[in-house]
Amino acid sequence: MTHRVTIANTGQTIECSPDRPILHAAVAAGIDYPYICASGNCAACISELKSGEVSMLPHGDGALSAAQKAEGKILACRAKPCSDVEVIWLGRGRK
Ligand code: FES
Repeated sequence: MTHRVTIANTGQTIECSPDRPILHAAVAAGIDYPYICASGNCAACISELKSGEVSMLPHGDGALSAAQKAEGKILACRAKPCSDVEVIWLGRGRK
C-alpha cells in the first residue's frame, strides 16, 4: 500500500510507501526536491506539512527543533507518510 504525496511547490502528486522517506520518493520520481545530506542533519529539505500525518525517523536536533515540529515543520528526508499528505518545501538544498 502506498500513500499519495502532493508537493505543493510543483503541483505534482507521487506515490510513496509508508516505509520510505518522502524525499527519496520525490527524487526517484524526478522531482527537484531540495536536499543536501539526506540524513536529517542539514535542514536543506525542511518542509511544511500542510495536511496528513508523517512518522519521523531520527534526525539531528539542529536540523529540526521541537518548536519547528510544533509548527508543523518536517524534514522530508526523515518523514515517512502515514496517510495521504501534502507538503511544501521551504529549504533551498544545493541550488
Ligand atoms: S537533506 Fe539534510 S536534513 Fe534533509
